[in-house]
Amino acid sequence: DKITISLIKADVGGWPGHSTVHPDLIETAKEALQKAKDEHILEDFHVTGVGDDLQLIMTHRKGVDSEEIHKLAWNTFEKATAVAKELKLYGAGQDLLKDAFSGNIRGMGPGIAEMEITERKSEPIVAFMMDKTEPGAFNLPIYRIFADPFNTAGLVIDPSMHDGFKFEVWDIMEHKKVIMHSPKEMYDLLALIGAKSRYVIKRVYATESNPKVKGEVVAVVSTEKLYQIAGEYIGKDDPVALVRAQSGCPALGEVLEPFAFPHLVSGWMRGSHNGPLMPVSIKQAHCTRFDGPPRVAALGFQVANGRLVGPVDLFDDPAFDRARETAQYIADYMRRHGPFEPHRLPLEEMEYTTLPKVLTKLKDRFEKIQ
Ligand code: F6R
Ligand code: MG
Ligand code: MG
Repeated sequence: DKITISLIKADVGGWPGHSTVHPDLIETAKEALQKAKDEHILEDFHVTGVGDDLQLIMTHRKGVDSEEIHKLAWNTFEKATAVAKELKLYGAGQDLLKDAFSGNIRGMGPGIAEMEITERKSEPIVAFMMDKTEPGAFNLPIYRIFADPFNTAGLVIDPSMHDGFKFEVWDIMEHKKVIMHSPKEMYDLLALIGAKSRYVIKRVYATESNPKVKGEVVAVVSTEKLYQIAGEYIGKDDPVALVRAQSGCPALGEVLEPFAFPHLVSGWMRGSHNGPLMPVSIKQAHCTRFDGPPRVAALGFQVANGRLVGPVDLFDDPAFDRARETAQYIADYMRRHGPFEPHRLPLEEMEYTTLPKVLTKLKDRFEKIQ
């Protein structure tokens, strides 16, 4: 039996500033989705907030890119925006870039990760939600989950995974995609996805030879580029992802393991700084220090005939304390660079810059060097 899991998120107002989601927005979204569940549009749902992003996790039988589901998400964000405006929350409605819904939520501002799957005998999935960073922040952990045998023991010792996985990589500048096999093309794959601001993992597929998940999608990441849609800076595209675990896929602990290393990602203050990605529980998912540091939360569910049994707040665990401490240490270290690279992003990746104005001011004072 096929089931679709859709994780759709948007920043429709922060409280205060860009730090977190006001509980009234979460309540409003819950009411809207409960109504859709009562009307049998949704099988089940869970609403939460990570940083300033409102997250709708939904299951249904309408497949990916369903107009009905995307419209439901859009209308839910509009209702939440109305509440955000009343409370004068910061940046109310900021990710709703179009005035009216036109059939598909892609390219309209919200981030979206959805997959249609055959529900296995038991179907564990993890919803990862990041704030203050960009989709390429998932490249390293997704690579390690599905391609690195030093992370995922199952690649070596579980016969069903031994043929590896296939990666769908998007070139987000030229709007092209390519499917590459790991381990066969591992080095070529790394050559692309190491350039994380341009080449972004969109999906991972099992091979046809994987007996438990035969050729199916096993991971999906949101890759929307907000500033390209809007034509100007309106915030980073804080990404989300869905990852399936166990029996033919990496074990739950293999899926979480890469996040024990708080790798450097771009985003943070004004979308213009490199900083460590700190794994946090939902109750710790408020972006505070220098509007960050960038955070990732993870909710685990068992999908049971479409029902979302959960969530379990997976980083709410002392096993990730050391990663949080390391992230804080790295945050201190990076912050001491102030406005200098590589803390501040290189010019072409910055989302705000006053450099053109500074150059105009100095235009007549620049002299040729002999
Ligand atoms: C980063 C982010 C924040 C804002 C910063 C300035 O993604 O959302 O760091 O960039 O708080 O916000 P404005 O320009 O809205 O005052
Ligand atoms: Mg915001
Ligand atoms: Mg955000």
